[in-house]
Amino acid sequence: MRPLFIAAAVTLLGLGTAHAECTADVTDAFDLEPDGIVTLYACIEGQMAQQYASQGDSVGSQYRNWHVSSTRPAVAGPHGERFLQTFANDIAAEQYLKFEEEFNGMPVGSILAKESFTLKKGKAAVGPLFIMTKLAPGGAPEAGDWRYDALQPNGKVMGIKQSYCADCHLGYDYRDSLAYPIEEVRVGQ
Ligand code: HEC
Repeated sequence: MRPLFIAAAVTLLGLGTAHAECTADVTDAFDLEPDGIVTLYACIEGQMAQQYASQGDSVGSQYRNWHVSSTRPAVAGPHGERFLQTFANDIAAEQYLKFEEEFNGMPVGSILAKESFTLKKGKAAVGPLFIMTKLAPGGAPEAGDWRYDALQPNGKVMGIKQSYCADCHLGYDYRDSLAYPIEEVRVGQ
């Protein structure tokens, strides 16, 4: 295994809010070994949750109490070269965590929230929080009855186009638009 150096130095930003600076010695996110990802995540996760919650968004403030779907964040490719980790609310968790290849539909009120962070020039930075909410039948027929949302890293709502998200996710219409984490990190698999 390549030697890996990860350091966390605390800098002071804003009014007494301590933010860790999280770094790794690789430049390409795909080159970071699982141990390195876990260490990097441990460094940035508190800051990430704090930023998503900072504007009072209900999902941004709550998702960390939901059911985590992976053993660690991982890079999938789509959603940029970001490390991703998805959380499912109580309504979604039972079905989502089966990672079923084909099924009919998620329960109405299911919410999936996917935190993300990037590694740029060896430094981790918080990315958007991606959100999918299952609407009642007919709520968004052109998007599989899912509403897509995203929060910016600063916790503010990001302007997104439903079709941009839905067009890719509808490629998984045989399992209600869900893409799932990459197989090697799925919980309970
Ligand atoms: C080019 C294809 C593509 C586009 C565009 C896309 N996604 Fe995804 N999405 C994926 C893939 C692939 C995954 C699974 C990756 C992973 O979590 O490891 C995923 C996972 C998710 C998840 C976790 C639930 C699941 O499907 O397992 C959410 C929530 C999500 N995306 C929201 C969004 C939002 C919001 C947008 C638009 C801003 C968006 N996505 C745009 C491909 C895409």
